[in-house]
Amino acid sequence: MQTYEITVLKGDGIGPEIVDQAVKVLDKAGEKFGFSLHYTRAYLGGEAIDEKGCPLPEETVAACKAADAVLLGAVGGPKWDSLSGDQRPEAGLLGIRGALGLFANLRPAVIFEPLKEASPIKAEIIGDALDILVVRELTGGIYFGQRGRETVDGVESAYDTERYSVPEIERIARVGFSMAQKRGKKLCSVDKANVLESSRLWRATVTRVAQEYPDVELSHMYVDNCAMQLVRNPKQFDVILTSNIFGDILSDEASMISGSIGMLASASLGENQFGLYEPIHGSAPDIAGTGLANPLATILSAGMMLKYTLGQPEAAQAVEDAVSKALTQARTPDIYREGGAQKKVTCEEMGDLVCSLL
Ligand code: IPM
Ligand code: MG
Repeated sequence: MQTYEITVLKGDGIGPEIVDQAVKVLDKAGEKFGFSLHYTRAYLGGEAIDEKGCPLPEETVAACKAADAVLLGAVGGPKWDSLSGDQRPEAGLLGIRGALGLFANLRPAVIFEPLKEASPIKAEIIGDALDILVVRELTGGIYFGQRGRETVDGVESAYDTERYSVPEIERIARVGFSMAQKRGKKLCSVDKANVLESSRLWRATVTRVAQEYPDVELSHMYVDNCAMQLVRNPKQFDVILTSNIFGDILSDEASMISGSIGMLASASLGENQFGLYEPIHGSAPDIAGTGLANPLATILSAGMMLKYTLGQPEAAQAVEDAVSKALTQARTPDIYREGGAQKKVTCEEMGDLVCSLL
């Protein structure tokens, strides 16, 4: 039987409880579709600071590199908020993305039919479906550019640098275009080319790469307009291609259109099949350990792992279908509706329900 090596980074806050549910679902999918998974635990973020003294220990990088794929919960929390920038849990997350070369972050914003009423957007704007894929550049731009502080004549200032090279833009553009080819054949590249030089290079490069994909319709949009259009008319979008920081912001917005940030999965990919899979939401320390967390984004991330890295598309589809069915029967508090037909469940109960529907 095929066995996959998975490195598990539970992280902080609700990380451990949501990852446990996703692991259960992966095991159940393996049972059903004839493969097995072997897990290695490693530390990242706040838990790594507490256990090993830094947010990204060497052995965590090694364990991830040795695996077929990585499953990640979330990092961060008030306990570590006073640490300096490069010692914070978030530095561990950026570090692992960089160390593994995961430059392409896929963040699908879809509305599950049973959740339509949970969207804050009017039903007539949503229509019968919404399916947007945000392709976010993940290892460049202002997240990784030069930064620093200086004091001149007693006045302190700080700076961060947005910088993109042509090869960096080309490779993420190719991911965007090839995703669009497999979907609705439309790609909207989002930038701030009316102001930023880096955006002007981005736009010119994406326009040039588009010639390799004549079947994909390319458009360009300024990021402020895109933020507005996502709320005004989200159905105009198929694939949104954008930089690291714009993608961070727009993917949170896109997630909310689909009902709850607790529903949105992501895949971070490099040059080959290898990938890191994590929900787009954070560690929600305020509800950690209470059973209130929604495990579905992490379960759906595990589904993306089955599809993009492990080559198990049928199992991936089965996980998505099981999640959709589970939503007709039960809801965690973030998506629960008083008077609805679904019962309110805990994180663990939701995990068990998805397993039983697989
Ligand atoms: C995300 C998160 C991270 C990011 C944080 C935790 C560093 O917001 O994955 O979207 O900004 O990339
Ligand atoms: Mg974010």
